[in-house]
Parts: sequence; structure tokens; C-alpha cells
Amino acid sequence: MFVIFLPMTLIVGQVVPFTNGCPFDGTTLNLSSWLINTSVISESVFTSCNLSYGSVTTLILSYNTIETIAFEAFKEFYNLESLDLSHNLLELVDNNTFRTLRKLKTLDLSYNSLTNITGGTLDNKVYLVSFNVSHNKINHVDSDVFSVDHINIREADFDWNEISTFEPWPYRLPAIDEERHVSIRHNNISRFTNAMNWTYNFELPLRINVYLEYNQLKTFVAPDIRLYDQNLTYSACLTTFLTLALNVSYNPYVCDSRLYFWAFLVRSTFLKWNRVESYRYRCNLPKELEGEDWLHDVPYSSLVTNLTEADGCPSRCFCQIRPYLNHTFVDCSGLGLVKFPSVLPITEYPRLVLNLSNNSIQQLEETNYSNSIVQLYLANNKIQALNESILTLFDNNIYLDLQNNQITTIPKTILRFEYKNVSLGGNPLKCYCEMTWMIDWIKKVVVGANRELSCTEDDTNVHKIIEITPSVLKCTPADWIIIGVVLGVVLLIIVIVGLFFKKCPYETKVILFKIFKIHPGDKYKVDEQVGNIHDIYIVFDEKTIDVLHWVRDTLLAKLRRIKPQYQIFNPHQRVLAGECLLEELAENLEKSRRVIIILSEEIVKNEKREFECDIAEGEYCERALEGKVIYIKFNSKAGKLLLEEPWKTRVSTKKVLSPDDRLFWSKLRYELPRIRNGSSRVHSCREIRIETTTTTGTRM
Ligand SMILES: *[C@@H]1O[C@H](CO)[C@@H](O)[C@H](O)[C@H]1NC(C)=O
Ligand SMILES: *[C@@H]1O[C@H](CO)[C@@H](O)[C@H](O)[C@H]1NC(C)=O
Ligand SMILES: *[C@@H]1O[C@H](CO)[C@@H](O)[C@H](O)[C@H]1NC(C)=O
Ligand SMILES: *[C@@H]1O[C@H](CO)[C@@H](O)[C@H](O)[C@H]1NC(C)=O
Ligand SMILES: *[C@@H]1O[C@H](CO)[C@@H](O)[C@H](O)[C@H]1NC(C)=O
Ligand SMILES: *[C@@H]1O[C@H](CO)[C@@H](O)[C@H](O)[C@H]1NC(C)=O
Ligand SMILES: *[C@@H]1O[C@H](CO)[C@@H](O)[C@H](O)[C@H]1NC(C)=O
Ligand SMILES: *[C@@H]1O[C@H](CO)[C@@H](O)[C@H](O)[C@H]1NC(C)=O
Ligand SMILES: *[C@@H]1O[C@H](CO)[C@@H](O)[C@H](O)[C@H]1NC(C)=O
Ligand SMILES: *[C@@H]1O[C@H](CO)[C@@H](O)[C@H](O)[C@H]1NC(C)=O
Ligand SMILES: *[C@@H]1O[C@H](CO)[C@@H](O)[C@H](O)[C@H]1NC(C)=O
Ligand SMILES: *[C@@H]1O[C@H](CO)[C@@H](O)[C@H](O)[C@H]1NC(C)=O
Repeated sequence: MFVIFLPMTLIVGQVVPFTNGCPFDGTTLNLSSWLINTSVISESVFTSCNLSYGSVTTLILSYNTIETIAFEAFKEFYNLESLDLSHNLLELVDNNTFRTLRKLKTLDLSYNSLTNITGGTLDNKVYLVSFNVSHNKINHVDSDVFSVDHINIREADFDWNEISTFEPWPYRLPAIDEERHVSIRHNNISRFTNAMNWTYNFELPLRINVYLEYNQLKTFVAPDIRLYDQNLTYSACLTTFLTLALNVSYNPYVCDSRLYFWAFLVRSTFLKWNRVESYRYRCNLPKELEGEDWLHDVPYSSLVTNLTEADGCPSRCFCQIRPYLNHTFVDCSGLGLVKFPSVLPITEYPRLVLNLSNNSIQQLEETNYSNSIVQLYLANNKIQALNESILTLFDNNIYLDLQNNQITTIPKTILRFEYKNVSLGGNPLKCYCEMTWMIDWIKKVVVGANRELSCTEDDTNVHKIIEITPSVLKCTPADWIIIGVVLGVVLLIIVIVGLFFKKCPYETKVILFKIFKIHPGDKYKVDEQVGNIHDIYIVFDEKTIDVLHWVRDTLLAKLRRIKPQYQIFNPHQRVLAGECLLEELAENLEKSRRVIIILSEEIVKNEKREFECDIAEGEYCERALEGKVIYIKFNSKAGKLLLEEPWKTRVSTKKVLSPDDRLFWSKLRYELPRIRNGSSRVHSCREIRIETTTTTGTRM
């Protein structure tokens, strides 16, 4: 028996490895641990087994030594639903191997030595529910292993392989209304990639769970998620990440500044309390945070990154990215530096807090990071002067600590900053006269800030700066100079006015009256007369049309506008009794405080007017009081008149105004009486002798 068996085995080799009949129960062909020393599976392996291939729905080939599966080895098993090839020595499975197994529901390739799963392997497997390639050496999965065909897949197991980057091929599975699980635990994934150019295209709800626990993810950042959707805003990355249903627990996270972003997003929303236990992402490093949940528990102040020289941190300095304070901290204190570091690390937190205290730096320096500094500590250095152009490089809100240096004067550029943001104590400040601007600067801060800043005068007297006054420093303050200038200007104006007054005294009085309503020197005696009934009596040649118009439309119009109103007597508006016309005119003239005589060429031909002029001038009675008669030279033609008598004499002592004069109205106003006086008076001239004129004057 043994003799026969041995040659048979030798002859048949791997073709007929089993001798005790086929372990077939009608549906399941169980060849588990059955194929002795068989490394290649081919069609012929099954030929010696007398069975109907069509009835086999389950084929178990696990625990054998299969290394290779020949082309179309499973061709006959057209009803196969489950194929188990686990625990073999397969290194490679051609993507045609399972081509004919259209009804396959489960495919188990776990515990082999596969290194990659190529596209096409699962083509046409529309019934496939479970695909298991766990415990292999897979380091590559083609992006098209899954396709829209695979609507029935519920679980795909890629655990315990060597996949090193996460490509989004699981999301190629079509969206259906049932949960799917793609497990890639215990691999070597350390980062997210998108070489397959997948675009995030989900419509909720999403049912593809991808398990990435026990990989090598040390961190993950918003750009990882944006690989799949360029248009995502940073804060939307969290929501998108959640819809990807990626389980990234149990990864060896390095808790540093990169994780702050997620922690902040989660902790500042309701997610802080939502399914906390499902999202425990724990630190592996640094040692002191090991096992801590960085998403929920690690304090923000621990989510920082220490930078090395390779990152741009100056030698011997301590550099730390501090997202929770939104800045990068650089500490180079106490290193004996004589200059500012030439470069500082460039990070995604560009605001800089730079500590250069306790060095030997002698001056502020311009650097390419000057305008990024938000806090600059320079206490205990050897700075002697503050370079103004460098101060302007700093941000207005910088905090500047300059305590205990050797600064003697502060440039005014310092006003860019608030006093409370600049520490100047411990500097040998000198008191100087122009320093008083600092008082306002210091006083502007609210109480509480140190206002005690002091300066030294002549190396001996110490003054608090806010208490400095010009007299304390014995200097002419700028105010005095201003006062001096103002006084000088005023003096100059007075001189000019004085000269003008000397040259044109009358105009000066008119202008003073116009502006200040004052009459320099008292006015005319005529105003002391009481009992007048008119303020103004107007004498003009009504036959000259120009004059008539001017009087009516301009002069009277203007006079009437003056408040309080003048009582104006216009002989042409009064219907006077014919017989005693002249007497009446004369009487009204007498009872007027002013007589305005408008001199025009023709007035001498108008007898009544001449009469009025004569009366006004006091030809029949006493002479008119000064100021009573105001002459207005209507035009230049009237000028000729004034060269002849009696006008020549009459006007010689009087003002003759002219409407062309620029100050005409002001002068007229000046000449007119002031407030009306209503009490009665006794006229000095009651009886007017007019016999001479009545004969010629009344009948016209
Ligand atoms: C297949 O056979 C092996 C060993 O002969 C046995 O352990 C296993 O339970 C069988 N499997 C099924 C599904 O019958
Ligand atoms: C299988 O091969 C091994 C060595 O590779 C040998 O020792 C063993 O006897 C073989 N078994 C059978 C049943 O041929
Ligand atoms: C194969 O099985 C059939 C019945 O299923 C039987 O009739 C036939 O004799 C068997 N052939 C061999 C070679 O065992
Ligand atoms: C099958 O794999 C080969 C390489 O092994 C590849 O060239 C071919 O495109 C794959 N077939 C499909 C359908 O992807
Ligand atoms: C895949 O196979 C492994 C090992 O046989 C097993 O532990 C695991 O549960 C299987 N996965 C699925 C999804 O069935
Ligand atoms: C996958 O396997 C094929 C051979 O079938 C090989 O040509 C290819 O380089 C492998 N790909 C990777 C990424 O290992
Ligand atoms: C895991 O990936 C790293 C590179 O990311 C590689 O150096 C290492 O060899 C990989 N380990 C395994 C077990 O594949
Ligand atoms: C993905 O896009 C990049 C750049 O657009 C291209 O170089 C690459 O070939 C694309 N890859 C695939 C798989 O389409
Ligand atoms: C991004 O936005 C641009 C324009 O707004 C649009 O054309 C593009 O399709 C968007 N891409 C994605 C991935 O949504
Ligand atoms: C992720 O997987 C762990 C177990 O590995 C589980 O405790 C946790 O709830 C899962 N989280 C989510 C969000 O599914
Ligand atoms: C960063 O530096 C601080 C101070 O030296 C130290 O306490 C901390 O452990 C460091 N963190 C890391 C991740 O190296
Ligand atoms: C952080 O600083 C940057 C400027 O560097 C600013 O644009 C941003 O608004 C700041 N973020 C927060 C949260 O204050």
C-alpha cells in the first residue's frame, strides 16, 4: 500500500494530492490543510475530485502552501460564492484570477504575502460583500480596485499590511444607504496623499467608515483635508474631516503646534461634548503628554512646537511656536549678544515675541522681521540712542521693553506707541526743554501705569517728567515764542491801522463805525437838538430821470431797510398846499435832523430845490449846524457845479459823498443820525423870512 502510494505521489506530483476522496458536502469543497506540498493551484488540482463544479458554492483552500494560482484555475466554479485562500504563501494574485467568479460574495486572502492589489482584481464582483486581505505585506493598492460595481461590499479588510500613505480609494465605493467598513488598521500610514486626484464629492449621509487606527500618523493638518477639496476654508476642514468618517484614534501623535488648529476648532464648538469617547486622539510624544487626549484635554499652552537651528532658530536661542498666543516666541536672552539675530524662523504664526534681555546690544537694528515683532524685550542692554527710522518700522501696538539701558534722550517718534507699551525705566534720561511733549504722552495712560519716569538735570537734579515745567528747567518754553509772534503780528496790525488812520482819518472812523458800531469822538451838535420830526430830508432834482430813479430805487430802498427805521421826508411824496408850499418845505427842513442834498447838474435850474438848499444851508436864518447837510455828488458832471459859488463855499467845509465811492454807503450811514429822539424842542428859527423867494418860487 505504502509502496504503491509513494510512486503515485511522485508520478502525479501536485496533480492528485488528495487520496481519501474529496471533502465535499454538496456545496462546500473544504480543502483546508488538504493539499500536501502544493505550491501552484491550477484547474487540474480539482479534476481528480469527482464532483459537479457547478454545485460548489464554497471553496476552502486555507492553510496550504499555495504560492501561485495559475491562469483560469477557478474557471469551472461558476457558482462559487465564497473563496477562502487564507493562510497560504501567495505573493501575487493576477487581476484575472477571479475573473470568472461572477457570483463571489466573500473573498478571503488574509495571511498571505501579497504586496499589492492591482486594479481589475475585483472587476465585475457585483455581489461581493466581503473582501479580506488582512495580514499580508500590501504596500500598494491601485486606486481603481474599488469601483461603482461594488455596491454590495460591506467590509474590506486591509488590516496588518504595510500601506504607508492614505489614498482615498475607499471613497470610490458607490454611495448606498448602508454602512460600509474599510479597515486599514495596523498599517504604516504616516500621511495623507491624493495621487489619484480624488475630489471630495459626497452627499450626506455618508456610510463609508474608514479605520486608520494603529498606524503611524504623528500629526494631521488642515491641508491634508484640503488635498481632497481645494476650495475648503480652514474651518470647514473639520466638518469635511468628520464626513470622511475616518477613525484616526490610536496613532502615535506628536502633540505640538500643528494640532492646535483641530483642538481649537473642536473645543470652540458643540463637538467639545459630542461623542468624546469616540474621538480620543492621544499623544505619544512628548513624553510628558503621553496618553493625553489632545483633541479635548491637553491644555492649549502645551500644543506648542520647539524649533531647532534647522528650522531657523538662532543658535543657542529658544524658539517656540505658540498658536494659543498667535505668535512665535524667540528667547535669546543672556547670551552676550551684541547684535540682533539676523534671521528668525518663519512660521505660520508670523507675529514675533522676541526676548533679547540681558545682552550687550548697543542699538536698535533694522531686520527683515522688524515689522513682525509684537513684543520686544531689550531690558539690561547697552542701548544709548533710539534710532527714529527704526522705531517707525515697528508696529504701532508693539510692546517695547527698554528698561535699564543707557538711553539719554527719547525721540518724538516714540509717540507712535502708547506710553503703557513702552518701558523706559532705569535709563539715564536727561531733562531738556523740548521734553514737555512727553508729559501729555505719559499722562494719557490710565491710572495704574507707572508714571514715575524721571530725568536728570545737569547730572544732579532728578525730576519726574510729568512734573516738569518750563520754570523748573529755566527755559523759554515754546508757548512764549508763540505769544511773542502773536504779539508781534498784533503790533504790526496796529501800526498799519495807525498809518491808515493818519492818512485817512475819516475813512478809519467810518470803518470803525461799520465794524464796531462806534462813533469815535462824539457826533454832531445837531443831534442834541430835540423835537425834530424827521430824521432825513431828501433834496433832489426830480426832473432828472436818472436822479429820480436812483433816489427811488436805490437810496430810499436802502434807507428803509435800516432798523430802526428813519423817518424820511421826501417832498415829492407829500401833497402840500400850494399857497404855503415854501413855508411848509422850510418848516419840514427845519425839523429834520439831516438834509441829504443830491447834487446833479440841473438842480440849480429847479427853483424849489434851490430854495430848499438855501434853507438847509441857513441862508434865511442862522447857519446850519455842522453835520446837518450831507451832499451827494450824483455824478462827475455835478462836479463842475462845485467849482462855482455858492456851492464852492458851501461844500468847502463839508463832506461830499459820491455813490462811486467804495465806502459810500458806510459813509452815509456814518453821517446819518443815530437813535431818534422824540422829545420836543424849541427851534431857534421860528419865523422864516421868505418874502424874497415866494414871488419867484411858488408859482411854477
Ligand atoms: C474545513 O476543514 C478543516 C480541516 O479539515 C476544518 O478545521 C474546518 O472546520 C472545515 N471548515 C468548514 C467550513 O467545514
Ligand atoms: C512535503 O515537503 C516536505 C519538504 O519540503 C517533506 O519533508 C514532506 O515529506 C512532504 N510531505 C509530503 C506528504 O510529501
Ligand atoms: C463519479 O461519481 C458519480 C456519481 O456522482 C459516479 O457515478 C461515478 O462512478 C464516479 N466516478 C468515479 C471515477 O469515481
Ligand atoms: C491588471 O494588472 C495589470 C498589471 O499587473 C495591468 O496592466 C492591467 O491594467 C490590470 N487590469 C485592469 C483591468 O486593471
Ligand atoms: C479577515 O481575516 C482575518 C483573519 O482571518 C479576520 O480576523 C478578520 O475578522 C477578517 N475580516 C473580516 C472583515 O471578516
Ligand atoms: C504591483 O505588482 C506589479 C506586478 O504585478 C508590479 O509590477 C508593481 O510594481 C507593483 N506595484 C507596487 C507599487 O508594488
Ligand atoms: C513604514 O514607513 C516608513 C516610511 O514612512 C518606512 O521607513 C518603514 O520602513 C515602514 N515600515 C514598514 C514596516 O513598512
Ligand atoms: C493627478 O494630478 C496631477 C497633477 O494635476 C497629475 O500629474 C497626475 O498624473 C494625476 N494623477 C492621476 C492618477 O490622474
Ligand atoms: C472650486 O471653486 C472653483 C470656482 O469657484 C470651481 O470651479 C471648482 O469646481 C471648485 N472645486 C471644487 C473641488 O469644488
Ligand atoms: C474609532 O475606533 C476606536 C477603536 O479603535 C473606537 O473606540 C472609537 O469609538 C472609534 N471612533 C469613531 C469615531 O468611530
Ligand atoms: C519644548 O521646550 C520646553 C522648554 O525647554 C520643554 O519643556 C518641552 O518639553 C519641549 N517640548 C518638546 C516637544 O520638545
Ligand atoms: C493671528 O495673527 C495674524 C497676523 O499674524 C492675524 O491675521 C490673525 O487674525 C490672528 N489670529 C487671531 C485668532 O487673533
